[in-house]
Amino acid sequence: MVKICCIGAGYVGGPTMAVIALKCSLIEVAVVDISVSRIAAWNSDQLPIYEPGLEEVVKQCRGKNLFFSTDVERHVSEADIVFVSVNTPTKTSGLGAGKAADLTYWESAARMIADVSKSNKIVVEKSTVPVKTAEAIEKILTHNSKGINFQILSNPEFLAEGTAIQDLFNPDRVLIGGRETLDGQKAIQALKAVYAHWVPEDRILTTNLWSAELSKLAANAFLAQRISSVNAMSALCEATGADVSQVSHAVGKDTRIGPKFLNASVGFGGSCFQKDILNLVYICECNGLTEVANYWKQVIKVNDYQKNRFVNRVVSSMFNTISGKKIAILGFAFKKDTGDTRETPAIDVCKGLLGDKAKLSIYDPQVTEDQIQRDLSMNKFDWDHPIHLQPMSPTAVKQVSVAWDAYEATKDAHGICILTEWDEFKKLDYKKIFDKMQKPAFVFDGRNIVDVEKLREIGFIVYSIGKPLDLWLKDMPAVA
Ligand code: NAI
Repeated sequence: MVKICCIGAGYVGGPTMAVIALKCSLIEVAVVDISVSRIAAWNSDQLPIYEPGLEEVVKQCRGKNLFFSTDVERHVSEADIVFVSVNTPTKTSGLGAGKAADLTYWESAARMIADVSKSNKIVVEKSTVPVKTAEAIEKILTHNSKGINFQILSNPEFLAEGTAIQDLFNPDRVLIGGRETLDGQKAIQALKAVYAHWVPEDRILTTNLWSAELSKLAANAFLAQRISSVNAMSALCEATGADVSQVSHAVGKDTRIGPKFLNASVGFGGSCFQKDILNLVYICECNGLTEVANYWKQVIKVNDYQKNRFVNRVVSSMFNTISGKKIAILGFAFKKDTGDTRETPAIDVCKGLLGDKAKLSIYDPQVTEDQIQRDLSMNKFDWDHPIHLQPMSPTAVKQVSVAWDAYEATKDAHGICILTEWDEFKKLDYKKIFDKMQKPAFVFDGRNIVDVEKLREIGFIVYSIGKPLDLWLKDMPAVA
């Protein structure tokens, strides 16, 4: 029986391995992690991450051919294929701080693999890593190998949170990069055989190592760039009276452009886009490609600009002061159908509003109070370290309270900011909400999900990103 071990039981390691176990009943899959609490959660009824369809998949295979364990060394030593799906945070100090990837966890995983291995192994990069990481990993493994043959493959993950299971069941493509040697090609075929259990052959792409590593960074940069492009347009729409939904619909009808990923919003978030672009920028700079680096840097600048612009809209429309005013925040996760808050635009928006002394009442159907408090008190990039290395007990931000539903959050509020596109926010009884709010009552829709006309009829002053402005907002400056 082929044995697979995955180091890192996170948003990528957990779902990808669960799907491999489901689709390959003759492969034994062990997912290991240094976090005791995370592994305990994977073995319980309360999985550590929320992802539609995940629970059903885990329940079907757990204890049969899918195991979650903290016995990292045993499972690695027994495996034929070792996936590494550990954190690759942005460096916060030293060379490349604020941009380069911190490969501490990857390197320690590689050294451990070399230490405990007694048989030949295929080591698969699942984490997103800088191009040429495989070369460094190869050196660590071969210099410590005691004659064991290690083949390194790059197999970046393209799943999107919120639709991870669907994406894994039916991927646009699976990408496998390896060495062009005979052993390298054999390793590629071995991994290809795993995916071929359910992925059509023409969707399994094989490349050299560097193309695979770089393709992942490139794909994320392209996706984020689309969002920053439409968000940049949204500012121009507000200035000119155009409607960004109409513009993106018209633009997306061009088959060369396509309709997906063209929704204007308060900005992109998630653990990957910013981190991977910063990383790309750093690699370009290291290779002397300043113009290329500056091009990609702009994608992040526009994203920051969009979040600032949103905060400025809130403050300027409420008579330039939100000091002591209650503002309801609907949605904190970086997108709907996930509880993940890593780099969510809600963090920067809330910090901006708190900077102007607002009182915030936050509601998100999937995010806990503890997580919200952590996010609002943690330093940038600290979130991307294993849980036990994150600050333990953050000091609670006093002006923030967490509500159990949208009606509670909005009671007595002066304004509402919609920061995640949860379906339930489309169906709220906004008349009931309006009646219980301070007047004038404002809605700032950072995801363009509410029916603007209907809300205006109720009496709200509504700001919707990139849409023709409410008369109230016309002369209010939005730019910093
Ligand atoms: P995560 O933070 O959810 O999971 C990483 C896990 O690795 C943590 O549970 C941590 O305790 C564990 N870990 C760290 N060092 C370890 C070690 N030496 N031994 C055992 N366990 C160790 O991170 P996530 O989101 O799963 O991301 C992992 C990688 O995949 C990152 O490089 C990320 O950029 C990439 N990625 C993430 C995607 C996403 O949607 N979250 C999508 C595609 C790629």
